[in-house]
Amino acid sequence: MSASPFASVAVEDLSSEQAKQELLFLAQEISLHDKLYHGNDAPVISDGEYDALRKRNEAVEKQFPELILENSPSKNVGAAPVSGFSKVTHARPMLSLGNAFADEDVTDFLDRVRRFLGLTDNEPVEVMAEPKIDGLSASLRYENRKFVQGATRGDGAVGEDITQNLMTLDDIPKTLPDDAPDVIEIRGEVYMAREDFFSLNKSQEEKGEKIFANPRNAAAGSLRQLDSKITASRPLRFFGYALGDTSEQIAPSVSEMRERFQSWGFQLNEPAKLCRNEQEILDHYKLIGETRADLPFDIDGVVYKVNRVDWQDRLGMVSRAPRWAIAHKFPAEQAETTLREITIQVGRTGALTPVAELEPITVGGVVVSRATLHNEDELGRKDIRVGDHVIIQRAGDVIPQVVRVNLEKRPADSVVYEFPHTCPECGSHAERPEGEAVRRCTGGLICPAQVVERLKHFISRDALDIDGLGAKNVEAFWKDGLIKSPADIFRLEEKKQELRDREGWGAQSVKKLFDAIANRQEVELNRFIYGLGIRQIGQATAKLLAKNYLSLENLRKNIEMAKDEESDAFTNLKNIDQIGPSMIQDLIDFFTDDNNQALLDDLASQIIIKEYEVKETSSPVTGQTVVFTGTLVEMTRSEAKARAEELGAKVSGSVSKKTDYVVVGADAGSKEKKARDLGLNILSEEEWIALISGATKNENTKSTLETENNNDIASSQNSEDQGQKDLFSD
Ligand code: IVH
Repeated sequence: MSASPFASVAVEDLSSEQAKQELLFLAQEISLHDKLYHGNDAPVISDGEYDALRKRNEAVEKQFPELILENSPSKNVGAAPVSGFSKVTHARPMLSLGNAFADEDVTDFLDRVRRFLGLTDNEPVEVMAEPKIDGLSASLRYENRKFVQGATRGDGAVGEDITQNLMTLDDIPKTLPDDAPDVIEIRGEVYMAREDFFSLNKSQEEKGEKIFANPRNAAAGSLRQLDSKITASRPLRFFGYALGDTSEQIAPSVSEMRERFQSWGFQLNEPAKLCRNEQEILDHYKLIGETRADLPFDIDGVVYKVNRVDWQDRLGMVSRAPRWAIAHKFPAEQAETTLREITIQVGRTGALTPVAELEPITVGGVVVSRATLHNEDELGRKDIRVGDHVIIQRAGDVIPQVVRVNLEKRPADSVVYEFPHTCPECGSHAERPEGEAVRRCTGGLICPAQVVERLKHFISRDALDIDGLGAKNVEAFWKDGLIKSPADIFRLEEKKQELRDREGWGAQSVKKLFDAIANRQEVELNRFIYGLGIRQIGQATAKLLAKNYLSLENLRKNIEMAKDEESDAFTNLKNIDQIGPSMIQDLIDFFTDDNNQALLDDLASQIIIKEYEVKETSSPVTGQTVVFTGTLVEMTRSEAKARAEELGAKVSGSVSKKTDYVVVGADAGSKEKKARDLGLNILSEEEWIALISGATKNENTKSTLETENNNDIASSQNSEDQGQKDLFSD
């Protein structure tokens, strides 16, 4: 920080001329640090030093009010609009991939594809297998064959505009040849080759600058620069591997798509292979695994994609991942270390999870000091004891696990671990209902761990996504009584002074925090429902509820009414496909609880919960309730359901007077009869197809891609696990 020429002169002793210069200096200095802090995420002075600048400015202004500048920093407290990257809403969401670890997971994947498409056993499913690069995904938009916008993945729906930075990459063509469509988005991975990574770190070290932990971090740090000159100086590369929005289909298969990408000047990720059966797929996986170290870049697995694009379209997606692709990860790396202690972590819904506190050890380049022991039974089965030597493993971003005990090294005096029956956080009884694997604290809201975990879940990325707050702050603020319930987050401004006085905080960081919170004061209903952390209600179910009830008010009213099993509200809830009896019970328990009701009222007074928007679609079945019964011929039941949902219909498992259409296949039974008795609209499969045809997928890109259901993919995590993942990543 450069000092003002008069910094050492007490305010009372300043002459008018000195004061004028001092104020000018301070205005410039404060504005510079605002920019560094907000824009570049790279402050060069401490909060304390920054506050001192502001205090000095205030004091001089008080003494010389006639000299206050037009652009005085006191006029924009905390100031400087956050000048980070602007947001880009992806024309088509950027998906993630489900994972396969074992060979059987690959078999399951292929079986699922076959089942969904209703293929016979002898019909081949060709699969493109290509390396999974460990970098950052980006979407490149070309309009009239010119590169017009580049974006990060972000949360999949909204990313950041990094066009200027991507412009600096040699691997990214700035124009496309005449045969490219008018609008096309090429998706792929920005990465750094291993060798380039080493030389970058070397020169960083020489300059006394930041050293990166691995090529992925180096690529991320280089891409997220507000000054694209810095990005330009970094050796970034790009592979194109998928298609986003496009004004016309460019190829009927992945293999042909790759050829076109290449002809347009994109690099392809090799070695890729078009495999005709499972054996070829696994052979290629093995080959890539064995030659992995010889590749010039880091990879963490192999991606398999159904080659036929028409099949991909039919398969669609589930929980943000395509049904037509999967990532086959390389095996976890293992290491042996000592178990120092077993602690118990209490999750959002009270679940007691045993955690291994380990002698820190490096596994696959990351230091691991904690690993999950899953639950009481698992711990018992493996007979894991304090003092044991244990084998731990870590795969990708998955929480490290204890695989087994090295019994040869077991200390003679070790004792069997006894799982506690009281909550270590609040002392309440921890009970384990029959048939359940998990023991839970019964303390509810008196249990501090549950309260804090709920708060963390509420602000987490897939819920309210208050990025600037973060799990650590929530924990600290809760401890100090600044936040007791979710609604308190939105009342934090009342505690401005207390926050500014906290160690490590100052006017700037407090302002930044308030901005982040204010940004999320309006929230989509599905995120809000998910954020409540109701047992069993994950993202997909939250979306389903939002879609069916449209507003929070309506949802609350209906769930409360559903207490009465004779009510229409109960029947309607039960009829929502994929909502089962135990989920209904959890919903009713949550929404009829007095504490939760007060919490919801309080929240509703602080934030705006947007009504669920029914997507515009040209389909005649949008908003209609459909029941499928009997055997269908043209497509499988799963495909029919997925297709109906894509078109905005609600698929129900049972017939009621609220059903709009009953689609009847061969050998339909009681449902058809009931439909006839109720005088409902009954359609044959052919009639159904006629009704929905014309509403093709492309006309409805948006609703197509935003449809979610939770049928299969193993990647949909138990929501309680998610909370634990947060703790581990802290
Ligand atoms: S295809 C719809 N192919 O892996 C699927 N992704 O874990 C689009 N990735 O977000 C992705 N190599 O960033 C695909 N050959 C490859 C890939 C690849 C790396 C990344 C991508 C994606 C992530 C999912």
